[in-house]
Amino acid sequence: MATIGTDIQAAKSFLEQNELVAIPTETVYGLAGNAFNTEAIAQIFEVKNRPAFDPLIVHTHSLHEVKKIVKALPEKALQLAEHFWPGPLTLLLPKQSSIPDLATSGMSTVAVRIPQQPLTLELLKSLTFPLVAPSANPFGYVSPTTAQHVEDQLGHKIPYILDGGRCAVGIESTIVGFENGQPVIHRIGGCGREDIEAIIGKVKLMAHSSSNPKAPGMLKSHYSPGKKVVLGQLKELIEKYNNDRTGILAFKEPMPGINPKHQIVLAPDGSLTTAAKNLFSALREMDKMDIDIILTEKVPERGLGLAINDRLKRAAAK
Ligand code: TXA
Ligand code: MG
Repeated sequence: MATIGTDIQAAKSFLEQNELVAIPTETVYGLAGNAFNTEAIAQIFEVKNRPAFDPLIVHTHSLHEVKKIVKALPEKALQLAEHFWPGPLTLLLPKQSSIPDLATSGMSTVAVRIPQQPLTLELLKSLTFPLVAPSANPFGYVSPTTAQHVEDQLGHKIPYILDGGRCAVGIESTIVGFENGQPVIHRIGGCGREDIEAIIGKVKLMAHSSSNPKAPGMLKSHYSPGKKVVLGQLKELIEKYNNDRTGILAFKEPMPGINPKHQIVLAPDGSLTTAAKNLFSALREMDKMDIDIILTEKVPERGLGLAINDRLKRAAAK
């Protein structure tokens, strides 16, 4: 069992001893360690059971700190940074040698972001090093959006969970890289494509891959609960699959004739912000229900909807 609390000093002192601490961010909880220390980094891969080819995101508290760990900041990257940080955006930038190759899986770029979460920002400011932090879940499983989610799966492996309450956004950061100066979205997340394009113009969206090492974060099957997930039109899916062990994850309205105990509505208010915030805890809750299959539907494909549909598709890919 980890200690769950809001003691920044305690978190700081574990991190200074190269131990791991779970930290809240506005997107999801991260499993954090000293970004300059290879032992801490190695532990992160071990605790998450994460393959070594999947690189980590470095978290800092200011653009000044980011500049210390990257070799260059292309004009469009700077515009995005100034507009969205602190916030749910990660930039892939050429790395300095101070960031160990282990953190970037040998890649020449490093993923960086400034999160928008008061406790974590205060913690980052108090440290003399940045923090590498992947989502604090076992590899391939749904990301955690509360301290209790982290405790449920990793609590026996780490000493401390900094509790920032429920994550405000609830879905991972949008990752943007640059190819010959041209922006490419590697993972759609809490920062909308339209919002990014409003700042820097057209941005390509990278396709999913089960093997392409250039896109390690884009594995086709990911973010999966243990149960089988089927994505489609709920009415049709219910006709095909319904029995007393079927669960429904609906966008804004429950489905008639289905046991209410086996249904979760993501956003009764119809808002994509609400849906994103509830998505991962809903998947975890459904995983615990006495059901065999989760039937779910896409949300409108705009704003946060792109990221929600992306996670649903990947949860459904087996
Ligand atoms: O919102 C978030 O981004 C959360 C919070 C904790 O900050 N973190 C997160 O980390 O989602 P993680 O490790 O679960 O996902 C990071 C993704 C990985 O899929 C990884 O492959 C990709 O970022 N990534 C990291 N460095 C990369 C690089 N240099 N090139 C391409 N992809 C990279
Ligand atoms: Mg993750």
